[in-house]
Order: sequence, then C-alpha cells, then structure tokens
Amino acid sequence: MILVFGSLNIDLVAQVPVIPGPGRTVLAPSYQTHFGGKGANQAVAAARIAGPGRVRMAGRVGRDGFGDSAIGNLGANGVDSTLIVRSDEPTGCAFITVDQAGENAITVASGANMTASAGDLSAALVNSGTILVLQMEIPVAQALEAARRTASASGTVVWNLAPVPEKMTRRMVTELLSVTDHLLVNEHEALDAAAAIGLASSDYEAAAAELARTGNLTCIVTAGASGALAVTADGARLRAPAPRIMPVDTTGAGDTFVGVFAAMLSEGESLQRALEVSCEAAALKCLSAGAQAGMPRRSAIGSLA
Ligand code: RIB
Repeated sequence: MILVFGSLNIDLVAQVPVIPGPGRTVLAPSYQTHFGGKGANQAVAAARIAGPGRVRMAGRVGRDGFGDSAIGNLGANGVDSTLIVRSDEPTGCAFITVDQAGENAITVASGANMTASAGDLSAALVNSGTILVLQMEIPVAQALEAARRTASASGTVVWNLAPVPEKMTRRMVTELLSVTDHLLVNEHEALDAAAAIGLASSDYEAAAAELARTGNLTCIVTAGASGALAVTADGARLRAPAPRIMPVDTTGAGDTFVGVFAAMLSEGESLQRALEVSCEAAALKCLSAGAQAGMPRRSAIGSLA
C-alpha cells in the first residue's frame, strides 16, 4: 500500500505574459481553479498508475467547500481519503502564475496543512509493505514521526524535499536522511540539502552522491528537460532522459514524478524502469494545464517513447 502523508490545496491559477517580480503587477485575462497540494498531487499520480485501492492519503483540510472538493477529488481518482481529518483552519490554497513558457511561481497559504499530525495515521496499518510518501508542505516534525514509524516497521520511506523550507537546519536534514530510503529532489533542492549538512558540492550530481552516501539511501534528482539521475548509497549512477515536449504548464510535474516513482516501487520495478516511466509521466503531465489534469493513466505510458 502506498500511503501519502502531505498537503491538499486548491490551486488558483492565472496565465500571465511574465511572472511579476517584487513591486510589479501584471494583468491576466482570468483564472482557473484546480486541485493541488504536493501530497494530493502525488497521491493522484500514484493512483492513476497503480489503480484504485492501492493508495491512501492522510492530511488535513478545512471545514469548508474547498475541503469538500479536495476530499471528493481523491475519491474520484481512486485514492482512499478516510484518513483525512477536518481542521479549524481553512483548506490550503495555492496562488499560481504560469508564464508563456509553462514556467510557474507559487505561493502556498498552508492553512489546514500546518495542523497535520502523525497521529492522523494511527488508523493506518503501517508494515513492511508500506511505501510512505512525504513532502515538505506539512510540519516537518510530524512527517519525521511518520517516517520513523514506517522505518521501524521495515516499510519504505520516499521523501520529496519540496519545497525547501526557508530554514533548513543540519539537524533536520540529518534526521530526515536517517529515516529515508529514496530522497527525491530537484537540482536546487539537492544543493540546498547538501549545504545544510555542511557538504560543499560543486554541482547537483556531486550533491546527490554525497546525500546518498551520508544517508545510506538512493538520491533521485529530477532535472527538468535533462531527465533524471539516481545515485545509490554505494555510488552507482543511473539516468533516464526526459522526452522532448512543448510544455503548457509544468505545475505538478515533480509531483507526478514522485507519485509514479512510488507506484513503480510498489510494483517491484527496477530503479532504471522506475526512472524512465516517471520521467515520461512527468513530461505527459506538462502537456495539460493544472497540476493533476495531465497526470497519465497507465495506458498512456509509452506514448512519448
Ligand atoms: O507542486 C505543485 C503544487 O505545489 C501545487 O499544486 C500547489 O498546490 C503547491 O502545493
């Protein structure tokens, strides 16, 4: 069973000619409302590949209409939402601008997500078959507690270090690495995590190798159009290319990679195959607007090859 413990957001998205810098205002013709949140995105991506009944999600939403919709969307995608708890805080909301190249800038108002508790998982049977998927949009202490429980039950911990927090201490990263089996990062996150534990890496590949060695884990770096790299604890390096596409919206591409990677792990696929399928799935996602709309079902895998 894949168990995602993380955020659920409603994404308010505006297409803009240029993403505004500080002190700037740009006009967008309109906006769209999409389902989002890194946790929910990863749960949906995993369920589209693994199929209904294989993915469960824990997290928190508000007692509001956005919360109702976010829970309904999990169900519509075959994700078990019975561990989702209602909070007195409003459902998380993300304000997203997407430019003409499909690049985005995101501000997340965390709301209920920051009330998520490892206790929310108490009804979940965590065992050696559990693949716990974590990100950084809920309190890190709670995610760490869930990871420790999973590690002590000999389950597998997949941690996506996104978004990198403003303050990432050596202690936080050291603890996180100690309970993680697969660390998924982008180039910047790899460098930031390595720097936080005092490893001066010249590039993301070197940073990934240091993180893998230090944490005795596999570090996977997603590098956009350059594809993905995995470095194992013993230093082996595997790579997968990214299919060439014209992106419409890159929002949720990283989440698609993470969710599909977890689905591949749950099926016992090799690391190489998991990298390849996850890269293709992330590229397919970028062909549609919104974080989740373009996440592929299994039948679409292979269509870009
Ligand atoms: O990774 C994309 C996601 O980040 C969006 O869906 C938004 O909700 C933010 O959490």
